[in-house]
Amino acid sequence: MNKLIIKNLKHTYSDGQADVHVLKGVNATFESGKMYAIVGESGSGKTTLLSLIAALDNVQSGDIKYNDQSIKEIGEQKFRLKYSNIVFQSFNLIKYMTARENVEVALDFAGKPRTEAEQVLKSVGISKEEGGRLVQKLSGGQQQRVAIARAIASDTPIVVADEPTGNLDEDTEAKILGIFHDLATKKKKIVILVTHSKKVAGHAHAIVYKMRGGVLAK
Ligand SMILES: Nc1ncnc2c1ncn2[C@@H]1O[C@H](COP(=O)(O)OP(=O)(O)OP(=O)(O)O)[C@@H](O)[C@H]1O
Ligand SMILES: [Mg+2]
Repeated sequence: MNKLIIKNLKHTYSDGQADVHVLKGVNATFESGKMYAIVGESGSGKTTLLSLIAALDNVQSGDIKYNDQSIKEIGEQKFRLKYSNIVFQSFNLIKYMTARENVEVALDFAGKPRTEAEQVLKSVGISKEEGGRLVQKLSGGQQQRVAIARAIASDTPIVVADEPTGNLDEDTEAKILGIFHDLATKKKKIVILVTHSKKVAGHAHAIVYKMRGGVLAK
């Protein structure tokens, strides 16, 4: 079993005038094969935590460890490439490429055949015709699904997503939720979703954490 362990993680933003102490000692363990939902008020630090788990920002104090190795030991760049994939809406999608090409780039990095792109896109409900379109010619919700397809193609053991169903209708939300659940239970990944959606947090198999006062509580 793979484990992501967060120990006494603190994070402060300094804008020159005032310091904003956002994370004040987060402790949590995330295991492979399970899906986690992080909820909490706007501004409570959810995106900050995800950025650290995705190694998009440096750990200031405390530690994030994947199977006993800290992100620092693994190296931020390697961690981003091989360990952790983040899904934001249209995050990291290359707008002047087609949806399929975006997925192909991820498959290249993962050392998998490009021919898988169509199948991966289909699994998130993007048709062959849509897959051939430039990303900028897709709707917000479609772009979001392409971003999820990219994360699936990357095949990293950790998948984190910030409001991954924010722009989606209920049916599509349920479908995407099912995909994340499969990534956890069938592909044995660590899946962490930040969400305001009651449906996502209420998913029968999601383990819910709440961010409040700079710490995570169950
Ligand atoms: N780069 C930054 N510089 C300064 N302050 C920041 C920065 N990024 C975030 N903050 C502040 O840190 C706090 C936490 O922000 P964060 O984005 O993590 O919240 P969140 O829980 O994701 O909120 P939401 O639900 O609205 O997305 C907020 O008060 C925010 O204004
Ligand atoms: Mg946020």
